[in-house]
Amino acid sequence: MTPRRKTPTELRSHRWFGRDDLRSFAHRSRTKQAGFTAEDWSGKPVIAILNTWSDANSCHAHFRLRAEEVKRGVWQAGGFALEMPVLSVGETYMKPTTMLYRNLLAMEAEEILRANPVDGAVLMGGCDKTVPALMMGATSMNIPAIFLPAGPMLRGNWRGQVLGSGSDVWKYWAERRAGNLDECAWREMEDGIARSFGTCMTMGTASTMASAVEALGMTLPGASSMPAADSGHSHLASATGRRIVEMVWEDLKPRDIMTGDAFENAVTVAMALGGSTNAIIHLIAMAGRAGVRLDLDHFDALSRRTPFLANLRPSGQFLMEDFYYAGGLRALMTRIPDLLHQDAITANGRRIADNVEGATVSNEDVIAPRERPLNAEGGLAVLRGNLAPDGAVIKHTAMEPRLLRHTGPAVVFRDYNDLERRIDDPGLPVTADSVLVLQNAGPLGAPGMPEWGMLPIPKKLLQQGVRDMVRISDARMSGTAYGACVLHVAPESFVGGPLALVRDGDLVELDVAARRINLKVPDDEVARRRSAWKPRELPYPRGWVALYSKHVRQADKGCDFDFLEGTAPVPEPEIH
Ligand code: FES
Repeated sequence: MTPRRKTPTELRSHRWFGRDDLRSFAHRSRTKQAGFTAEDWSGKPVIAILNTWSDANSCHAHFRLRAEEVKRGVWQAGGFALEMPVLSVGETYMKPTTMLYRNLLAMEAEEILRANPVDGAVLMGGCDKTVPALMMGATSMNIPAIFLPAGPMLRGNWRGQVLGSGSDVWKYWAERRAGNLDECAWREMEDGIARSFGTCMTMGTASTMASAVEALGMTLPGASSMPAADSGHSHLASATGRRIVEMVWEDLKPRDIMTGDAFENAVTVAMALGGSTNAIIHLIAMAGRAGVRLDLDHFDALSRRTPFLANLRPSGQFLMEDFYYAGGLRALMTRIPDLLHQDAITANGRRIADNVEGATVSNEDVIAPRERPLNAEGGLAVLRGNLAPDGAVIKHTAMEPRLLRHTGPAVVFRDYNDLERRIDDPGLPVTADSVLVLQNAGPLGAPGMPEWGMLPIPKKLLQQGVRDMVRISDARMSGTAYGACVLHVAPESFVGGPLALVRDGDLVELDVAARRINLKVPDDEVARRRSAWKPRELPYPRGWVALYSKHVRQADKGCDFDFLEGTAPVPEPEIH
């Protein structure tokens, strides 16, 4: 049976443009003011292009051009395109962290769509938080929407060596601190590591989230692997514009696509990619907006059954450009058909199974065969224990295997300033067996849960050749980072979680296979410390951060705001 299509008078925008009343007169006359005539909009779906371009977001430098290409597609398909700039949330400049502003962009996206005559939306994002934020807002609004990922940038280059965003910065910065790299080489790397517009080209948070959104069904097939500078990315932009117009007529909405099965597909793909730990927080928040229950145990269960196949930095060797030439995400999905819900419907109206049909792997060094995975399990593990009663995560495919099971004495830093002050102090009582602990770096404590979780190795240990050690915090870690870093400890230390009670010299036990993280201190001593513990003042008590601090949830709940979770309908504005 052919699905019913909307009629022009059923369009949401008809309330703004189609009536014979004073307000509609104003809306029409002001649209003419902008140079359009009734032929441009009458009876056509209005498509909002939510564009996260700004001069402060180098990853989205091509988005003004791409927005024009999306518009071309919208016009071709008989829609009326309106570009609407939204918060850019550029990862590189914003302090203390863009995570503090993810929910602000999510709210902005929801309200922009709600307040305007919009029938459907193209979501243009890519740089880390822009992806979940736009998805969260559009899911709450639940009008037809499709995501256009910014695409990864080209490979970096230094003296003939390939450089990957983030991952190689951390690697060579350690060498620089160890005294093994001179200033000239360091400057050359600065010139060569970011060669084009586009997002980080390692399997960091941007690539993980774009891939997860494609697996979720919210992009056109193959969208997440397409390099930003490839002409195919322009074609993708126009095709996305054409498709959203049809989605409006079909009334295909985010919550029709983002089902429980679709989220399992997204998590499974993130695990097969060895993706970013940040995906856990973002996918939980996105699922909350879609009315799908997704928790940490779900991630761990899916990780245990999913082979790690994508040989991409930071867990592997190659970069996103190589992944694209090897067949990209569609090819990777052909390697795990039994682990995916093949019938899940996607933005083009077809099933995941239809979208990957015909895709082939052309380089098995980049996308490993199922019978020879890079690791039998997915890239992430969820840990629990008396140090993290509500959970913590670790990217165990990107750490030195000798540390998978480790017990060592804690060296505690009360906050990031304390860490900066003392980490390279020659007198710091630290050895390669120590466990570095960072407190007050979580959603409330920092605030915003910055990517401080890859604590720097103390300089004196770097000079001894140490390149990895166990580190624990309630912070996040860049998706491009690596190491034996236990992250997202919940509840966080700022609210009195057990991490707040760790003292120098306490033994801490990490056992990834057993999914365990424990503080080996007698219960009565822990109780004594708890009764003496005093909360700190909120770091920033005004403006947006005051609102954030009042409503943000803990890491295991996705750090969404308590009043934005769930699927309560967004009220339509009165038009008077
Ligand atoms: Fe923009 Fe990494 S800094 S994606």
